[in-house]
Amino acid sequence: MAYSVTINGETREIDAPGEMPLLWALRNELGMVGTKFGCGIGMCGACTVHVEGQATRSCSMTLAAVDGKQVSTVEALGETPVGQALQQAWLEDDVMQCGYCQAGQLMNATALLNTNPNPSDEEIDAAMQGNICRCACYKRIHSAIARVARDEETANV
Ligand code: FES
Ligand code: FES
Repeated sequence: MAYSVTINGETREIDAPGEMPLLWALRNELGMVGTKFGCGIGMCGACTVHVEGQATRSCSMTLAAVDGKQVSTVEALGETPVGQALQQAWLEDDVMQCGYCQAGQLMNATALLNTNPNPSDEEIDAAMQGNICRCACYKRIHSAIARVARDEETANV
């Protein structure tokens, strides 16, 4: 059966089993490999995308569950002002080490700042705690998010 999913603003027909994880559909059916496979069981956050604006683990969401919905992936991250600001901060702060977890980190951070543009340190930690980084870049991830939040706040004064 074909499922119709709007991905990064473009409606795509995906002819695959409904129980297929969204992560598989993105990577294997559409060739969108920016979203990463880490654990496959919803525990690491590497596969985070946005479904209807909510940070979602694409390994734990079926294709059938996103039929007719809006999905955003890391490929379109730079098309939003918050995503662009985070990408820039990531580069300026040299956040990445191996980089494997970073698509998921950025998608989760974007969802956080989209809903809470001025999070406290505790709110950043709480929102990001499920995104695992084997290279332990946690401090730099935190400070890049905090800096974007601060800059946004300054821009809105
Ligand atoms: S691959 Fe989805 S949470 Fe780990
Ligand atoms: S940068 Fe290597 S796993 Fe996070």
